[in-house]
Amino acid sequence: MIFESHAHYDDEAFDEDRDALLRSFAENGIDMVINIGASLESCRRTLALVEKYSFFYGAIGVHPSETGELTETDLLWLKERCALEKVVAVGEIGLDYYWKEPEPSVQKRWFEKQLEMAKEVKLPVVIHSRDAARDTLDIMKSSHAETTGGVVHCFSYTKEIAREYLEMGYYFGIGGVVTFTNARKLKEAVSYIPLDRILLETDSPYLAPEPNRGKRNSSLYLPYIAKEIAALKELDYEEVLAVTHENAEKLFRLQDRPASNIAE
Ligand code: NI
Repeated sequence: MIFESHAHYDDEAFDEDRDALLRSFAENGIDMVINIGASLESCRRTLALVEKYSFFYGAIGVHPSETGELTETDLLWLKERCALEKVVAVGEIGLDYYWKEPEPSVQKRWFEKQLEMAKEVKLPVVIHSRDAARDTLDIMKSSHAETTGGVVHCFSYTKEIAREYLEMGYYFGIGGVVTFTNARKLKEAVSYIPLDRILLETDSPYLAPEPNRGKRNSSLYLPYIAKEIAALKELDYEEVLAVTHENAEKLFRLQDRPASNIAE
């Protein structure tokens, strides 16, 4: 079975066919999905999805680009939601210097506060880091982010940066970008990272893998990503699925969670 560790099914890109799509996952081998919050609104929608679908779990947090108007009251609201049974992580949180909006000092402040919150509620973190490799690591080290553990989603840095995250005990979310022919550095990093630290992800609706690059992404395309990882690491495709599934269950501590808290 396939574990989808990072998707945004609350996105309006799925408004037309969300329910039919999600109900087709089981017959296509996808048995677990982590829906990732990125703004307060998407966190609310994530909570509704995890209540509706037994195989959905949620991460609650605010993406760096959405931190401009965040308040302490909002942070408290997030923290309270972290106690819900199907909330398994804090995220996605981090730094995005590709879009320098809001300015880095604001992004950093909310990144630190959300890392602190994750420690208080004892949940792992889902990290978003774009064009901000050094600052992200500096903050994670000074905040002792190794105590919660977590995953660096859509990992896009070098082998050298990967080594630092490996030392902190982090996992790496590998998605569609690994299938792009020009992703030389990422392919090199994926060859280097041990399979027992890799999670499969799509970041749906974004970043569809080849041969569907540019289209709306969905977890149905995870096999393309797993096949590329298997090829790069000279491993069996089935082994990639099994080990990444186990990795995600371990990181999100699903063995301690109810299989379902819903009435479908
Ligand atoms: Ni995402």
